[in-house]
Formats: sequence, structure tokens, C-alpha cells
Amino acid sequence: MKKLWMMVFLILSATLLYAGTSIGAEGEALKAPEAEIIIEGEKKSARFPHTVHTSLGVACGQCHHGNEHQALTDKDIAAMENNLQLRCASCHNKDFTDPKLQTPKAAFHARCKDCHKQGVDGKKGPTKCTGCHVK
Ligand code: HEC
Ligand code: HEC
Ligand code: HEC
Ligand code: HEC
Repeated sequence: MKKLWMMVFLILSATLLYAGTSIGAEGEALKAPEAEIIIEGEKKSARFPHTVHTSLGVACGQCHHGNEHQALTDKDIAAMENNLQLRCASCHNKDFTDPKLQTPKAAFHARCKDCHKQGVDGKKGPTKCTGCHVK
């Protein structure tokens, strides 16, 4: 009899635990981080504050795109299961089709530095190495 109650207890707590984790996961849709992120390379790292850019009115899809180079919206991003598709290096690596975009450095410099030179509404971004690189 004791054993039976033990079984019932275990099954109940496993069910509760499972329900708990699935509720937790649902509440965590991916969104732009509030805090500055550090993008780690093999030798160097660079800082990237989302908020500075989103408050300039730069859309998610001006940086984030999918397999077909289609711009991603905040809704597309919220629906993602993990952040792998947001990591530039998961596509821009040595297997990438265009030889000019086969390193994260090439992809990042093309995206980040070009806009910093051009500017948004008259505001320019940093173009010196230390404006982005932290080491
Ligand atoms: C507008 C921002 C920005 C500026 C300015 C910039 N970089 Fe970068 N760079 C990045 C980002 C982002 C990466 C990818 C993350 C990383 O590897 O540090 C990167 C990557 C690199 C890498 C590859 C590092 C690695 O470990 O794989 C090198 C080398 C590099 N940059 C050199 C430079 C030099 C030299 C300058 C100045 C002449 C410069 N960068 C200016 C943003 C910038
Ligand atoms: C100006 C460029 C830019 C814009 C605009 C931008 N992002 Fe990002 N985002 C990045 C970069 C760069 C990374 C880091 C990529 C990497 O590590 O390879 C990133 C990473 C992320 C991550 C993963 C964070 C982590 O810690 O792994 C999320 C989530 C994200 N962005 C959501 C968004 C959303 C939602 C928007 C629009 C509201 C947005 N981003 C707009 C450049 C941008
Ligand atoms: C899911 C795969 C994938 C991811 C992740 C990805 N890219 Fe791309 N990227 C592509 C494809 C596909 C193209 C189009 C290549 C072509 O047409 O030759 C492209 C083109 C580009 C280009 C050149 C065209 C343009 O839009 O200016 C740049 C720069 C670039 N990506 C930067 C980035 C940066 C920065 C990130 C991370 C924020 C990133 N990419 C993430 C697949 C990806
Ligand atoms: C569409 C244009 C655009 C793109 C793409 C862009 N930036 Fe910027 N960034 C700006 C502008 C404009 C500013 C200056 C904002 C201001 O002065 O308010 C800025 C400012 C910054 C700053 C300084 C923030 C501060 O603390 O003052 C950093 C660091 C930076 N960007 C890193 C990056 C990196 C790394 C990338 C690529 C992953 C990137 N940016 C892509 C336009 C852009």
C-alpha cells in the first residue's frame, strides 16, 4: 500500500513539474535584449547595444534575416525556439555561398560599418575600431 501511494505521489509531482516548465517556456518569447550584448569572435569581441539602434527606428530586419535573406520582423523572432537563427555566424561561415560573406567579420563589418559611415537621420555611428571592439 505504501508503495502504491509513493507511485501516485511520483506521477503527480512529475505531471506538475512538466506543466510548470511548459508554462515557463511559453512566457519567454525572444525579444531584443535590453542590455548591451558582447559579440565574441575568435580573437576580438565587439559590443552591441540593441536599444541605441531600435530607438533610432532601425527595424529588426535591417540586421536579422533568414535563409533566403528575407527580413525578419519582431513577430518572426518572438516565434523562434532559440537564438541560433539570429547568430550571424551560423550562416556566415566557410560554407556560405558568397565568398565575400564567409566570415562573421565580413558580414558584421559590411552591416555595421557601412551604416555607421552613412548614418541615420544625420546621426553617425562610431567607425574607429575601439568604438565597437572591446578587446
Ligand atoms: C561598427 C562596429 C565595428 C567597427 C568600427 C570595427 N569593427 Fe571589427 N568587428 C565588428 C564586429 C561586430 C565583429 C564580430 C565580433 C568580433 O569578432 O569581435 C568584428 C570582427 C572583427 C575581426 C574578427 C575578429 C575575430 O576574432 O574573429 C577583426 C580582426 C576586426 N573586426 C578588426 C577591426 C579593426 C582593425 C577595426 C578598425 C579599423 C574594426 N574591426 C572596426 C564590429 C566593428
Ligand atoms: C542594428 C542591428 C540590429 C538590429 C536593428 C536588431 N538586432 Fe538583434 N542582434 C543583432 C546582433 C548583431 C546580434 C548578435 C548576433 C550574433 O551574436 O551573431 C543580435 C542578437 C539578437 C538576439 C539574441 C540575443 C542573445 O543574447 O543571444 C535577439 C533575441 C535579438 N537580436 C532580437 C532582436 C529584435 C526583436 C530586434 C527588433 C526589435 C532586433 N534584434 C534588432 C543586431 C541587431
Ligand atoms: C539564416 C542564415 C543567415 C543568417 C543567420 C544571417 N545571414 Fe546574412 N545573409 C544570408 C543570405 C542567404 C544572404 C544573401 C546572400 C546573397 O544573396 O548572396 C545574406 C546576406 C548578407 C549581407 C549582404 C547583403 C546585405 O543584406 O547587405 C550582409 C552584410 C549580411 N548578410 C550580414 C548579416 C549579419 C550582420 C547577420 C547577423 C545579424 C546575418 N547576416 C545573419 C543568410 C544569413
Ligand atoms: C542602420 C544603421 C546602423 C546599423 C546597421 C548599425 N548601427 Fe550602430 N549605430 C548607428 C548610429 C546612427 C549610431 C549613433 C547613435 C546615436 O548617436 O544616437 C550607432 C551607435 C553604435 C554604438 C555606440 C553606442 C553608444 O554607446 O553610444 C555602437 C557600439 C554600435 N552602434 C555598434 C554597432 C554594431 C556592432 C553593429 C552591427 C552589428 C551596428 N552598430 C549596426 C547605426 C547603425
